Amino acid sequence: MLSQVADGLRGKKVTVGVTGGISAYKAVELVSLLTRAEAEVRVALTRAAKEFVTPLTFEVLSGRPVYHELFAAPDPVPHITLARQTELLVVYPATANFLAQAAWGLASDLLTSTLLAYEGQVLVCPAMNQKMLSHPAVKDNIRRLRERGYIFLPPEEGRLACGEKGPGRLPSPEQVLEEINRFFLPQDLKGLNFLITAGPTWESWDEVRILTSRSSGKMGYALARAARDRGARVVLVSGPTALPPPVGVELVAVTSALEMQAAVERHFADADVVIMAAAVSDYRPKERVAGKLKKGPEEILLPLVRNPDILEELGRKKGRRLLVGFAAEAGEALEKARAKLKAKGLDLIVVNDITQQGAGFGADTNVVSVLFANGRLVNMPQLDKLTCSHRLIDLLVESVGRDG
Ligand code: C5P
Repeated sequence: MLSQVADGLRGKKVTVGVTGGISAYKAVELVSLLTRAEAEVRVALTRAAKEFVTPLTFEVLSGRPVYHELFAAPDPVPHITLARQTELLVVYPATANFLAQAAWGLASDLLTSTLLAYEGQVLVCPAMNQKMLSHPAVKDNIRRLRERGYIFLPPEEGRLACGEKGPGRLPSPEQVLEEINRFFLPQDLKGLNFLITAGPTWESWDEVRILTSRSSGKMGYALARAARDRGARVVLVSGPTALPPPVGVELVAVTSALEMQAAVERHFADADVVIMAAAVSDYRPKERVAGKLKKGPEEILLPLVRNPDILEELGRKKGRRLLVGFAAEAGEALEKARAKLKAKGLDLIVVNDITQQGAGFGADTNVVSVLFANGRLVNMPQLDKLTCSHRLIDLLVESVGRDG
């Protein structure tokens, strides 16, 4: 499933400018994704781009005529028309030639002319041979465009079409779609500090073995990305996960519940909103065996002691902060969550019944209900975790607005 904010692109006027690089074929997929997200997509092709992909392909996918001729009747000024109909211009891929023309304000074809008639934001995705990318002229053009406010999605490292290895690869259509989504998000969390926990904790019982849970961390990481994209400053305290650290988020890596508690306490004072999405282990082995426990009797007992309930302790000193807990339950989820919300002094609790399909640990989607301290209940459908995170943040923003 796509990591896409539900409805975020519906009706948004996105123009994809395609220039003549071998990776132009990826623009076909991007236009298809944008159309599926119900954006109003228009495509502008340079002459060289037409050598790689035909206008017809884009016309069919976008459901609109493609812009590729500056002097094509009946519209005498297609570049002006296109500029007026664009809220975001994405150049995917951007060749060295395009960068040079844009940097120097040339208007030699429809796409570069449109740039001059357009006042909105431009997202540029360069792709080329690594030597071309590091050429001083290209670097200089990128710098000029950056200074003019253009936003760049840097090329990736990898095998290039010419057979060389290095930076220069065009990022995937899915990645660009995520960037495009970000452009249209409200910046309603600006000035707020979010403290989010994610992942499992590892409780060691010897130097090799651990007690843990199946938590992947995906929900907490998605929440961190959503809050970041809406303008919040985010500290993400994470137990061990296999997920890449989200860019622009302060990641504090911890292992055990006690470490998580210490990290959360360190960042609590500055937080306006605390979301405990981590699956903290309720117990830890009473003693940690040095080295590796040897195989012995048929049956052994492993004494466990309670870990502190981090959230409950925060609940006692929450002040004006918003405190959000998660409850993963197997059956009778709502009743149990209601009790937890009370006991831990939370503003709201996100409930998932892990026995339901498409919900909970490890999955890319989640099915949650949100229970507020005032008794309000919101049931959400099955959503990918990023969309689910945005919906949760919408509810947080709404509830703060309601309480004044
Ligand atoms: O009581 P239960 O463990 O089911 O509550 C889950 C919520 O409490 C989650 O938000 C989880 O992050 C948090 N929690 C905690 N410290 C613990 C156990 C759970 O903060 N030791």
